[in-house]
Amino acid sequence: MEESKKSLTAESFTSAMTLTNSGVPQVPDRYILPPSQRPALGSSTGTRDDTTLPVIDLSLLHQPLLRSRAVHEINMACKEFGFFQVINHGIPSSVVKDALDAAAKFFDLPVEEKMLLVSSNVHQPVRYGTSINHSTDKVHYWRDFIKHYSHPLSKWIDKWPSNPPCYKDKVGKYAEATHLLHKQVVEAISESLGLEKSYLQEQTEEGSQVIAVNCYPACPEPEVTLGMPPHSDFGSLTILLQSSEGLQIMDANKNWVCVPYIEGALIVQLGDQVEVMSNGIYKSVIHRVTVNKDVKRLSFASLHTPELLDGNNAAAYGEFSFNDFLNYISGNDDFLQERFIDTLKKSSS
Ligand code: OGA
Ligand code: NI
Repeated sequence: MEESKKSLTAESFTSAMTLTNSGVPQVPDRYILPPSQRPALGSSTGTRDDTTLPVIDLSLLHQPLLRSRAVHEINMACKEFGFFQVINHGIPSSVVKDALDAAAKFFDLPVEEKMLLVSSNVHQPVRYGTSINHSTDKVHYWRDFIKHYSHPLSKWIDKWPSNPPCYKDKVGKYAEATHLLHKQVVEAISESLGLEKSYLQEQTEEGSQVIAVNCYPACPEPEVTLGMPPHSDFGSLTILLQSSEGLQIMDANKNWVCVPYIEGALIVQLGDQVEVMSNGIYKSVIHRVTVNKDVKRLSFASLHTPELLDGNNAAAYGEFSFNDFLNYISGNDDFLQERFIDTLKKSSS
């Protein structure tokens, strides 16, 4: 029974890596977006290159005389974009490099090996897949991924890929380092809202960390498809590592802005939970991923998700859980147009 289920899945599943490796000259039809949703690469329509996105030096947070300056910069960045890049964040470059190497090795494994972890069930703690959900997506995205629960690490790491052999160790070190960094950033964001340093953190203490390791192979027709559709992340914050350019964020005027690749930097994106907890003072950032003809791009999206909300802070939004969100994204065909959080807004607000 299990056996036949697996082979059925395998037949209907083709990863982006498989397509790239087979040298297809064009993307299959299921990847072609309607013209209005295409990324307009190389044309200036709808994208802006003259917007400077914020880069914040996190070492200032540890200097008593300079901390308030960094907190102020964070406040400005969160209000304007819900997004900033961080430098001097304290995660050693070797930890970052080793994690990216381990991820590259995982996606280079033979198909059969990766298929051991395939699942279309969004509640699986470890899940390999392609697009967003290959079994329900109408339009497919040029992306393969492995997602795993990552905190507390000891609870989940045994379920992580055993191949490549270095995966658990290298990605585990990155996961722990990111979890610590997340705490520091959450504290600074609380402070930037004029709240106690521990305010948001107390609410996220029991929370979980999910890491999505994404792989966007070189794509023969990057102008008709995307690596990920426009969306905002659930959770409080996402800490994102990109190996090269490809991420775009939407600014307040609804223009797409390319996020420049900065060597050694990490990206912080506000998720829907911070929008809720700040009662809308900060907005979650809408972002998407473009692909390109030449290089394979890897990213680690570390999503930090508080489990529960304090009812007092959810005044403008209905209550919801992480499970509600998972059910929403797995069953929603309007993922492109709509944010989960908008489905929660109280009609009076
Ligand atoms: C995500 C995401 C961006 C990227 O995984 O939610 O937005 O650059 N990833 O891969
Ligand atoms: Ni995202």
